[in-house]
Amino acid sequence: MYYKNKDENWRKMADFWGRIFKINFAIGLVSGLTLTFQLGTNWGAYAEFMGDVFGPPLAVEALLAFFLEGTFFGAWIFLNRDRQKLKAFSMWMVALGTNISSLWIIIANGFMQHPVGYNMAADGSKVVMTDFLALITNGYVWYMMVHTLLAAYLLTAFLMMGICAYHFLKGNNNEVFKKSFSIAVAIALVTAVVLPVLGHGYAQYVTELQPAKGAAMDAIWETGSGEPMYLIQIPDSSTGSNSVQLLGIPGLASFLYTGSFSGTITGLNQLPHDELPPVEMIFWSFRLMTILGSLFIIEALLGLYLQKSGKLYTSDKYLKLMMWSIPLPYISITAGWIVAEVGRQPWIVYGLLKTANGISSVPISDVLLSITLISAFYLILMIFEIYLIKKTVVNATGVE
Ligand code: HEM
Repeated sequence: MYYKNKDENWRKMADFWGRIFKINFAIGLVSGLTLTFQLGTNWGAYAEFMGDVFGPPLAVEALLAFFLEGTFFGAWIFLNRDRQKLKAFSMWMVALGTNISSLWIIIANGFMQHPVGYNMAADGSKVVMTDFLALITNGYVWYMMVHTLLAAYLLTAFLMMGICAYHFLKGNNNEVFKKSFSIAVAIALVTAVVLPVLGHGYAQYVTELQPAKGAAMDAIWETGSGEPMYLIQIPDSSTGSNSVQLLGIPGLASFLYTGSFSGTITGLNQLPHDELPPVEMIFWSFRLMTILGSLFIIEALLGLYLQKSGKLYTSDKYLKLMMWSIPLPYISITAGWIVAEVGRQPWIVYGLLKTANGISSVPISDVLLSITLISAFYLILMIFEIYLIKKTVVNATGVE
């Protein structure tokens, strides 16, 4: 926008949010490298089993997306201010690269959720890819890709709104934050509304492919048609039932997971016992993700209303709420990943390899040690990232 209309506010916005992006990008990169080590230290058997399938998407990711991001990220940082056209182009390429990156990573993850386009090696020791196109056109990948990207855009929008709210509360109502808030609130609203709409189709798709995960998301223990959804419910896997279930809405669970109010859902008690995920964890994570999803719609609607009616900059309560809401999309996203990844347990590659058979053949104490070290490393990275971002935000009063 700055390149087109030379309005200084757009340049300030690009510089300010760009600084936060750069911190995130650098730390994201380091965290990704650690993840690769983890494949070697803890998941040797899995890496051997999956190598044939995992390798190509990750190689394409490195070649296509990572080089694109890396090259243009450098150009963005080092180009002079007067090379505006090339600088703007570089930023767009970095944005494109990061989105493409997520596609290739999700293609690898999509295979673990729903293996396609492969043959088992004759000795059963590994999967051999037979159809690369099937890997890319895997339906699971596209549901996951859209959901994950929408969630990431929503998180970005809420982070921007929270940071703007912090400055409005400080009486720092300059154009940079006003314009930023307008963009962020629009993106927050669109993504918050589209997430549950598409999430509903996603839940049906997942339930068809992984019935245990689907049933665990709503703690449905017995097979039945026209299943209600309970507003208050506490599952208890030790008894294979819900210890509390109140305020049931007739047929709603069936509708959400099958698309029909009278649809049949297979209950957890009718599925193989040794192939059930930890039900409570999936149930509460799914509830948390969707409840927060509803809160996001309300917060975005309220923000839009307050801004349109000119009351935003004096609505201290709302501004404080938005500031303290910054962690919520992170929590929602983490809950979503718990549903997706813990929900397919005991499988690491669904239906083909159990997690217990995917770990490296080293003593369990070694695995524990490396997990502890990696977690400590991530914790340090997180503290460092929060510190740097906070410093950037707090020092941005004048936004130059
Ligand atoms: C409000 C309604 C929502 C519904 C119905 C919904 C549905 C789902 C379903 C069914 C899954 C599991 C997919 C699987 O097992 O592979 C999932 C995962 C996930 N959800 Fe949601 N979701 C909603 C809201 C949100 C929100 C608000 C966020 C974050 C801001 C979010 C972020 C995620 C993430 C990151 C995952 C893991 C990645 C993936 O599987 O795509 N979801 N969601």
